[in-house]
Order: sequence, then structure tokens, then C-alpha cells
Amino acid sequence: MVGADSTARANVNVALVKYWGKRDTVLNLPATGSISLTLDGLGTEAAVAFGGGGEADRLAIDGVETTGGEATRVTRFLDLVRAAAHRRERATVAMRSTVPRGIGLASSAAAFAALALAASRAAGLALDPPGLSALARRGSGSASRSIFGGFVEWHRGERADGVDSFAEPLAPLEHWDVRTVVAVTSTAPKTVSSRDGMVRTAASPFYPAWVAGAEADLAATRAAIRARDLEALGLVAEHSALKMHAAGLAARPPLVYWRPATVGCIHRVWALRAEGVSAFFTIDAGPQVKVLCTPADAPRVAAALEAVPGVERIVTCRPGRGAELIT
Ligand code: DP6
Repeated sequence: MVGADSTARANVNVALVKYWGKRDTVLNLPATGSISLTLDGLGTEAAVAFGGGGEADRLAIDGVETTGGEATRVTRFLDLVRAAAHRRERATVAMRSTVPRGIGLASSAAAFAALALAASRAAGLALDPPGLSALARRGSGSASRSIFGGFVEWHRGERADGVDSFAEPLAPLEHWDVRTVVAVTSTAPKTVSSRDGMVRTAASPFYPAWVAGAEADLAATRAAIRARDLEALGLVAEHSALKMHAAGLAARPPLVYWRPATVGCIHRVWALRAEGVSAFFTIDAGPQVKVLCTPADAPRVAAALEAVPGVERIVTCRPGRGAELIT
């Protein structure tokens, strides 16, 4: 018999102070804390049912039966849920995404946050929010933050068993209404995953400096969010992103996630600032540029980025909610 079906939805998040490096690759523990903003409208739905008697888990993504690396990663994650719930049955998983996959819009964050909630419920586990965040972390580090809405901090934690490494909301969703304007500069699949990029960056000569700077960035970001100070927040977000990419540039072989249009957007954002518009960029492990601004400035920022040669698409996001059960 197929067990009770649980369906959950979660949104992607954009890191303002980046997670880029691990202190434990098995437990997926980060070398530093990180802070993000969950984005509305870019999400994943996951439906999970245990039972049905199959020999293996079954995964469908956007209606297509999937095997290979993605299915293995989901099975490894479900093994953690099975172990915690003392269950052995295989599961049927259906994931549906509104995020184009593999283009640097952090789709694994939304996917594993939704999967953590749906799978834990379907298995009969009632996890508290930190427990759910720590579970999502095992699937993908950034997923620990997508459990919550608005501005979120993921704690590095000190313990070797990782129980103190989970995310928490920094403020209620309505604390501060900002916009994130996403400029998609390439829809080609990314060449180096975040996971592999982090391993490579750990041997960069700039990696120790990257890790050493995190605490100060985290403190400045917490204060900026508390004070709703967009300039303070934006400047530290740009600094964190540029340091992460600088560490990757100095790795061997080097990591260059940017395309010409990525650099075009950086210069356009700085030009907007010179024109008096409060706009600040961040860039994850891909070529897309995410620009923070006020709701009032968002149309102007979107129009400016759309005109940058090579920009394919613009998506403007409000702060989004955390993971939610649908059924
Ligand atoms: C650049 O969470 O995808 O988006 O834990 O190995 O699955 P794994 O990595 P992942 O890395 C995200 C990296 C980033 C920065 C961030 O989200 O903080």
C-alpha cells in the first residue's frame, strides 16, 4: 500500500552573505555562517509517498521519470528520513519546479527544503523548525535557509555532529519590503556545480581570507537588516559576493562563473547608483545577477538591466514565504 501523500512547497533564496566552503562534507556543515533573503515566486513543489512495494525510490521531475545523479541524491536524502523515522519502504517522489534548473537560481535550495518538509511528514516525523532546517541542510546547504521566509541566517555551528548548524529567520516577513531584480544572462547549464566549486575554492590561496571575513560581514548584515538600511546591506552583499568570486578566480583550475553580460550588469548597477538609485548586486555560482532595491525603484532597475546586451530575461521578486505544507 502507498502511504499518506505529503506535498510541500518552498522558494529559492538569494544569499547576501555567501556560504562557500564546508567544514564537513558528509554532514554538509559550512565553514562560515550565511544570510539570505527568500524570494517569492521561484519555487518547487515536492510530493512524497512512502510504500507501494517498489524496490527503489521513484523520482519524477516536472512529470518526467528521472534516474542518474539527481535520483541518487534524492535517494540518499530519503535514506536520512527513513533512518530517523525507522522506516524502510521506498518512496514515490514528484517534484515540480517554477525555477529553470541549473542556471544559477539556486533551485536545489527550494527543492531540498520542499522535500525535507514533504518527506518528513510523509514518514510520520514531526520536526521542529530547526530540525527541519538541519534536515534540509543535508540535501543542500542553502536549502536550510529556504525553510524560512524573508531574511534568514544559517548558523555555522561549532559541534562536530552538526546539531547546532541550522537556519533561523532574522525578522518577520513583513519587517522590510525590498525587491530582488534577477537578470538572467545565460540559460546554458552551469559548468561547475556549487558543490565542486566549493571543493576547488578550498585550495585557493584566498580561501583563508574569505573565511576570516565572514563574521564581520554577518554582523554588519544583521545590523543593516535590523535598521532597514539598504545601502549598508547592499554594500556588504556586493563585498561578500565579490570576495567569494575572487577566491574562486584564484583557484586551480580557476572558477569563472561570469559571462560578459554578468559584468555588464555589474557596471550598470554601479551607474544606477551614480544616478542616485539605491541598487546593489549579488551573484551566486552562475552568471545571473540579482539586484536589491526598493519596491519604488524596481521598475527602473529592471528596465536598466533589460537593456544590458546579453540579458535574456528579468524576473522581479518580493520577499517570499518559507516552506509550507500543501497537503
Ligand atoms: C553560491 O547549497 O547549492 O549559492 O550544500 O553543496 O548543495 P551544497 O551547495 P549549495 O551552494 C550554494 C552556494 C551559493 C551561496 C549560497 O547560497 O550561500
